[in-house]
Amino acid sequence: MNIPSLISQMTLEEKAGLCSGADFWHTKAVERLGIPATMVSDGPHGLRKQDETGDHLGVNDSIEAVCFPAACATAASFDRALLTRMGEAIGDSCQHERLSVVLGPAVNIKRSPLCGRNFEYFSEDPYLTGEIAAAYIQGVQSRGVGTSIKHFAANNQEHRRMSSSSDVDERTLREIYFPGFEIPVKKARPWTVMCSYNRLNGVYASENPWLLTDVLRKEWGFDGYVMSDWGAVSDRVAGVAAGLDLEMPASGGVNDRKIVEAVKSGRLDEAKLDLACERILNIVYRAVENAKPDTPWDKEAQHLLSAEIAAECMVLLKNEGGLLPLSKGDPVAFIGEFAEKPRFQGGGSSHINSFKTTGALQAAEGLNVTYARGYDVQNDCATDAMIAEAVAAARAAKVAVVFAGLPDSYESEGYDRTHMRLPDCQVKLIEAVTAANPDTVVVLHNGSPVEMPWIGRVKAVLEAYLGGQAVGLATVRVLYGDANPSGHLAESFPLKLSDNPSYLFYGGEPRGTEYREGVFVGYRYYDKKELDVLFPFGHGLSYTTFEYSDLRLSADHIRDTDVLTVTCTVKNTGARPGKAVAQLYVGDVDGDVIRPLRELKGFEKIFLAPGESKEVAFTLDKRAFAYWNSAIHDWHVETGDFTIEIGASSRDLPLSAVVNVASTVDLPVRYDADSIFMDVMKTKRGREVMKPLLEVMNATFHPGEAESAASAEAISDDMTLAMLNYMPLRGILSFGGGNLPDGFLENIISQLNT
Ligand code: BGC
Repeated sequence: MNIPSLISQMTLEEKAGLCSGADFWHTKAVERLGIPATMVSDGPHGLRKQDETGDHLGVNDSIEAVCFPAACATAASFDRALLTRMGEAIGDSCQHERLSVVLGPAVNIKRSPLCGRNFEYFSEDPYLTGEIAAAYIQGVQSRGVGTSIKHFAANNQEHRRMSSSSDVDERTLREIYFPGFEIPVKKARPWTVMCSYNRLNGVYASENPWLLTDVLRKEWGFDGYVMSDWGAVSDRVAGVAAGLDLEMPASGGVNDRKIVEAVKSGRLDEAKLDLACERILNIVYRAVENAKPDTPWDKEAQHLLSAEIAAECMVLLKNEGGLLPLSKGDPVAFIGEFAEKPRFQGGGSSHINSFKTTGALQAAEGLNVTYARGYDVQNDCATDAMIAEAVAAARAAKVAVVFAGLPDSYESEGYDRTHMRLPDCQVKLIEAVTAANPDTVVVLHNGSPVEMPWIGRVKAVLEAYLGGQAVGLATVRVLYGDANPSGHLAESFPLKLSDNPSYLFYGGEPRGTEYREGVFVGYRYYDKKELDVLFPFGHGLSYTTFEYSDLRLSADHIRDTDVLTVTCTVKNTGARPGKAVAQLYVGDVDGDVIRPLRELKGFEKIFLAPGESKEVAFTLDKRAFAYWNSAIHDWHVETGDFTIEIGASSRDLPLSAVVNVASTVDLPVRYDADSIFMDVMKTKRGREVMKPLLEVMNATFHPGEAESAASAEAISDDMTLAMLNYMPLRGILSFGGGNLPDGFLENIISQLNT
């Protein structure tokens, strides 16, 4: 298709019109020129395809589809291949339903456990987010269907979500909030990007040229179209100029007319409008050319796939005395309404009309399981009779399994949580059940961490998250050992909400929210502060045990342009087959820049039969060691030692080694009279230039010794230099002996700067 030629035949009105939706879910057709309409749908963990009477918050019905586990769960798989398989299945269903783009994945960082949409987001860690999202995108797009990675950028709260400004410093954006987009844009080339509702440092994402053009396209090479989140447009003309190609859904023509006027009056360069049209049409035709509407959609098969994925994502948080797995013959009580009707997805635009659901109770058919409802989800209460029934069931059973979690109303798109607690009635139930039977397991269905004041009283906790429509099948398989749990937390579980680094500022004030904790998000903060957590980032148990050994680095010293290969051996030392998640963290040992103690820079999920060992290899490049330097607006490595740690969680790292990395980039430095001695003396040039001055000063501080030992080396050995460290160069006028010639200081500074 010759797109530039098509555009040259379009009227100004047609071009402006193409840049907004025809309705909630379609791009516009231009029949005169044979340009077809294409359809997009939510997303991300299944299809929410609606007809023209659609809405964007899942209020109205959509077609029957398959609800896969939500991102909170799939990130915990730490399994790229699994996400690719899920993406392929979703891509197939898009083809079957004639969709051009699925609206996802959602990759915003979990800054606080309170964000109402955390269930839809992957992680508090940018590297994990980016890798998992890229794998999903590769899966969907391998089927000839596009994705829309969202919500770009810094959309980390629901509170005031359509107007609030996320005020984030440059380094924090680059290190924490951008890589979840950057990695997939570079690696998986999503067809589209959805910009977020919020402002970024005061400018709406939908009209932010730095975000949408400089960073996204010029730096990262994005070549698809950017669409707005639904209703995220404030100033449409500024949006076109900034790089927002498609407004969704549409403004009833109002904004299209503004674009036309702006071009006519010369306020908007028509070339920018043409560019937006070109980007939209590139993807429209890519979708048309790749359409395979005869692709079958086997929902039953996808239901089973959804169960398989859910089992890979569940995180066994605690398993005292090996209470799990359960034995199939043993009498077990399933307690809690979620056993019958699991909460398996979140509310809002990602809400899927599942063609069927399997709860744990149904999946346990044929097993020796009794059931007590325990609490009433709808009315958020537990009557005395419900508790009494649960207690009796728990007493009569060998093991009690309480299904707990957050009701829909507690967490959803559109608003944030105000606390991190489970419903009181569920806490009461857990307490009553544990008093009746100490062999109690808690299965959790929640999209974000909860406080667990009862943790010491239960023997086992299985975090099932919002595991999709087949979550019950997966839960029973894991509980009874037909599947060995291998999920690891993609987020820290703090002991209490106020431990969270964003606690003081989260939600912000009407004008905006300041990200004052900077790069110290999640474990980056808890580790540096040496805070105890309930469960650390990366944590996850198994029914088998793993041993890590033989850490090897390809070199002890590298330059920042080299690639370091790191290998280790992981062995299954238990009796069951299982999957380990080897996690690699890097930390800067002695740099000047204030950085986290360790950051995830590699992970691999490995299947091991009992007794089996495998070598795992990681490659680390400059980015694994670099921080974002806001002076040069680039990644930079500080020369020095870095730790490489490997293990099963951020707080279980049995392997550790040190590599020295040398920077190949000299940071530009300009000295002036206020530069302090310590900084000047760091460089070889600085020491050379300072030598004559230090001689003068040495003579001043050590009269009589001037002839013999007046050298920079002599003074540098002295305590005096320690005290000189923080003195500005201009201090030599006051303390340098009083007989310096005019221009001495200026001369030193100019020598330092050449
Ligand atoms: C959500 C998006 C979603 C869109 C369309 C918005 O409210 O933020 O994630 O894709 O609606 O439903």
